[in-house]
Amino acid sequence: MSGDCLVRQETDSGILGAGFYRLERWAPEALPGEMAALPSPSLIEARVKGELIEPGRQLMRLGFMKICCQANFLMDLTGDGPADADAAGTGEPETARRLGRDLLTRHAANLSVSQFSLDPLLPGDCWLELHRRFIGHALESERILKFFCGDSFICFSLFPDRVFIEQLSVLTPRQGHGSALVARAARWGRAMGLPLLEVCTECDNEAAFHFYLNQGFRPAAFFNVFHFHKGRVAPPA
Ligand SMILES: CC(C)(COP(=O)(O)OP(=O)(O)OC[C@H]1O[C@@H](n2cnc3c(N)ncnc32)[C@H](O)[C@@H]1OP(=O)(O)O)[C@@H](O)C(=O)NCCC(=O)NCCS
Repeated sequence: MSGDCLVRQETDSGILGAGFYRLERWAPEALPGEMAALPSPSLIEARVKGELIEPGRQLMRLGFMKICCQANFLMDLTGDGPADADAAGTGEPETARRLGRDLLTRHAANLSVSQFSLDPLLPGDCWLELHRRFIGHALESERILKFFCGDSFICFSLFPDRVFIEQLSVLTPRQGHGSALVARAARWGRAMGLPLLEVCTECDNEAAFHFYLNQGFRPAAFFNVFHFHKGRVAPPA
């Protein structure tokens, strides 16, 4: 079911094992009716621009919880890029790779700060299973490109005007692997003639926030993320 405000996300619903809906259009008069009509269990995600105070207040009156603030970072890819980009490695991105369960679990745990791990209504370590599934899906999806550096990886999608980093996970921190992976995605974007590299991260993720600033990204927009739970959402173990 999708309505004027809420749009069902099929892939995410499959991963979550419940209805996953995004608030795509802000229509306060229609939203309560659409929420009431949702099947149970369902989870609604609403991302509201940081400066829009009143919609956030109205969502919380409807039972949404504010989970976190996310920042969208942009890097300008026009120009030549850093002279040392060759150090980042060469070669074309991979399209699909399947990880063993142990490695997948290490990456899932490494991505420990997310709107799912921060949501107190998701039971126990349900977020870990969700992350395993999101990462597994991204790595196996032919549509999403990826570079590896040892066991660490970056996944990204190409859009008409930008490269979007879907996931970045480094298992041996502060040895330059994250920088090398971002440099490879940036170089690929430049080679494709795309002007921007974009990534979204939780502001609670201190390491990632500092990392992206350090790489030359600039925060371009802030969003508050709200969740509404209908019933008990818990993916099967
Ligand atoms: C964020 C992440 C990708 C950085 O990878 P990395 O290989 O450690 O980064 P690099 O070694 O290339 O760069 C290190 C720089 O990043 C920043 N940084 C990395 N970890 C940091 C931390 N824990 N606290 C503050 N700054 C940190 C610093 O600017 C650091 O430079 P410095 O060592 O000179 O202070 C890695 O910490 C990670 O995988 N985190 C968990 C997954 C995640 O949050 N991914 C991003 C989601 S969008």
